Parts: sequence; C-alpha cells; structure tokens
Amino acid sequence: GEAKRTKLFSVPELVGSRVRLQGWVHRLRPQKTNYFIVLRDGTAFVQCILTGDCIRTIDALDLTVESTIELTGMVNKVKEGQTAPGGVEITVDWWKTVGLAAGGEDAFEGRLRADTDPSIRADLRHLELRGETATSVMRVRAALLRAFRERFHARRVTEVTPPCMVQTSVEGGSTLFEFDYYGAKAYLTQSSQLYLETALPSLGDVYCIQESFRAEKSLTRRHLSEYTHLEAELVFIEFKDLLDHIEGMICEVVDMLLADPVSSEIIKTLNPDFVPPQRPFMRLDYRDAIAYLNEHNITKEDGSQHVIGDDIAEAAERKMTDQINRPIMLIHFPKLLKSFYMKALDSAPDFTESVDVLVPGVGEVVGGSMRISDLQELLAGYKREGIPMEPYYWFTDQRKYGTTEHGGYGLGVERFLAWLLARYTVRECSLYPRWMGRATP
Ligand code: 4AD
Ligand code: MG
Repeated sequence: GEAKRTKLFSVPELVGSRVRLQGWVHRLRPQKTNYFIVLRDGTAFVQCILTGDCIRTIDALDLTVESTIELTGMVNKVKEGQTAPGGVEITVDWWKTVGLAAGGEDAFEGRLRADTDPSIRADLRHLELRGETATSVMRVRAALLRAFRERFHARRVTEVTPPCMVQTSVEGGSTLFEFDYYGAKAYLTQSSQLYLETALPSLGDVYCIQESFRAEKSLTRRHLSEYTHLEAELVFIEFKDLLDHIEGMICEVVDMLLADPVSSEIIKTLNPDFVPPQRPFMRLDYRDAIAYLNEHNITKEDGSQHVIGDDIAEAAERKMTDQINRPIMLIHFPKLLKSFYMKALDSAPDFTESVDVLVPGVGEVVGGSMRISDLQELLAGYKREGIPMEPYYWFTDQRKYGTTEHGGYGLGVERFLAWLLARYTVRECSLYPRWMGRATP
C-alpha cells in the first residue's frame, strides 16, 4: 500500500503499516545479507534493516554514517529477545541516498574521535551536537524551559522580553561586555532584573528567559560568558514567600520532567543516582555557613580560615554543598558582598534578605533577594557602590511612583541542567557555549 510519510517519533505506533522516512544514518552495521541502520531525524531513533536488492547497489556499498537517506518499509515489532529503539524495526523495501556524507579520511567518526584535544572538540561543537548525549541534554533543556513556562503560567507570572543592549549594570562593572552603540557606551546585559522590576506596576509578577552576558576572566566548570538566565520578579511578597516560591518552582519543574517519559528516561540514563529534591530545602544562614566551613576545615584559597564578611569561593561552596549533599538555601549574605539593590535585614542591617540556592556537584544555581523599596535607602545604595545615578533614573523612578515590597531571583539554566543531568561542565548544557576566548562556532 501507499507508504505513510511520518516522523520517527510516531513509528512505534504504526506497527503493521508501511511508512516513508527521512533522516540521517546515525549508525551503520553492514553485514553480508543485512545492513542494520539506526536512523535519526531529530525526533527519535529507529532501526532499519536493508536486505536483498536493497543492498546489491553501488549506493549501499558507498553508504556512510551521517548520510541523509529516504526510505520506505514495513514497521514490525522486533523479535523476542532483541532490542531496538521503541521496540520496532523497519523492513526496508526501497531507499535512496539524499546527501552522501564524506567518507575515508574525512569520515564523521574520524573527526569526532573521543581522544581529540578539548579545544579541537570545541571547534567541532556543530558535529558533537549530533551525538546521543548532546542530543539528550538539548532535549531535556527544551523540556525544562517548557516546564518553567508552564509553572509560571499556573502562578499568573507573565513573560516579558527585556533588552540585551543596555546602558546600566546590575551586578557590578567588572564583568561587563562593553560595545560602541552609535558612538555611545553600551553593554550586553548581565541580568534583566532591573527591567523586570519596572514591569511590576503594569503586569504584576513577571519573568523572562533571556541571555545574560558576563565577561568572566576565569575558566571554570560553571562559568559561561553568555548564558540563559531565567529571572522572575514578584510583587507584594516577603522574604519567606520568595524562598517558598523558588523552592516550589524547582520541585514542580523537576516533578514535571520526571513525569515526562522522554525526559525521565534521559535523566535515568545520564544521572542514575538523581534524587529529586525534598521540600523544604535546608535554610542555612551565611553566618552559620562560615562556622560550618571552619568546623569542617574548608579553608579559603590561601589556606586561611573564613571570617564573617568573606565571600565563599566556588571551591569552598562546592565542598560544603557536596558534603551536605542536598539543595541548600544559603541566606542573609553581608551587604558589602552584594549589589546595591538588596534589602537589608531588619534584625542585622549589615546583612541582606538574600538567597543563593546551592546544589550538589555545581554549587550556586540561583541568586535572589528582596529589593530595596525605600527611595532614600536606594540612593544610599548607589552612593555606597559608587554608582552614577544618572543612567539609573528610570529604575529610581520605580521608588518614586508607588513603591512596595518586592523580590526576585535569577536561575542559571545551564547550571540547573548540569545538576539535573550530572554534567561535568555547563559547557555541555548550551547549544554553542561561549567562555573566555571562545565564540566559535
Ligand atoms: O547571582 P547572579 O549574578 O544574580 C543576578 O544576576 C541577579 N540580578 C538575578 C536576579 O535576582 N534577578 O546570577 C544569577 C544566576 C546564578 O545563580 C547562576 O546560576 C547564573 O545566574 N550565573 C551564571 N551561569 C553561567 N555562567 C555565568 N558566568 C554565570 N553567572 C551567573
Ligand atoms: Mg550570585
């Protein structure tokens, strides 16, 4: 009968019918009487078997991995005791090469050998993306963004798209990428927070999923110079509401992924030891964290003990989080370590209503806080940080026209994925990662 044109994901539901498929030769196992092909089209993998006249052709002899082909054939259940993706295989009755992939010296498998130098592998990101691991990570990444959007929608939090080209800084000047904007100075945004705050009076709670840029001058497992920043800003809340919201979002999004067959299968494969986080997360005051570090002999980079007021560096933070081995909400950072906009603690004004969420294997995945709602306090914040007020006039106006308590957070999407999928570095969680010195491909 007429072959039904279909994408590979729906093939398992079409047992007994004849289908027409297009895709890339993901794997190729030529044998005397059978060619086994695993076909890939971006939606799934399907095993296809070529026999008889189908393999007695020049095309069959020439066929290479990563070639694009088109074929027709019957969908059959795999025989008992055998396995194939989706439990089905195609008995091919006709096929043709659409785009023959290079072979010999230039063959795909040769270019992507696992032992190649990391910088050469980075140059080959466009090819590496075709691999099963990269494909799985990108698939869960898409599901994750979908889940966050769904949970935001359920909470009546509205999505906005703030600009990437800006003339203010949110997280301090040291990591700004500067560029020439029609003869004026401009920057790539570090965070959309200030813009989200300005949308509160019109839209209420808002969020965005937007690229942020940081001119990080170090090479670490968890720093990119461009990353996907999921940020939300919530109005008429208190600090404890902010903590509950963050924890709720994380748990609900993880639950959604575990309930999704494709994502949960990938999580099981890439991160078999994953334990879904339990609510409530541990709350750890910054001052107690400093005590923890000292009690457990986790020192600063120079070997000395931590004292109140010190930043907790990446290595120490990771050691502590790995020891505790579950998500931690590290709260109440010293004012002097944080940005100008953070609200002080009533009970200890040198500290702030701030939170970092730390997870095992990665450390900080979320940074958030309550914001200063008082105009005079904000002006003092600019002054303390040496920030020129003029470019921030629009942000300052928020405190003049109907100020209120509000707070928000930013979550690093690549870091979240690195945790969820047990990836060694955030570089594996971005389609085309950018880090110090790398903007290719
Ligand atoms: O802690 P950060 O700097 O906080 C802010 O930018 C706030 N303005 C966010 C807000 O409240 N709306 O960044 C937030 C998160 C971090 O916790 C981390 O997960 C991620 O962004 N992040 C990075 N991810 C990858 N590469 C980098 N260089 C990152 N810098 C921050
Ligand atoms: Mg931070």
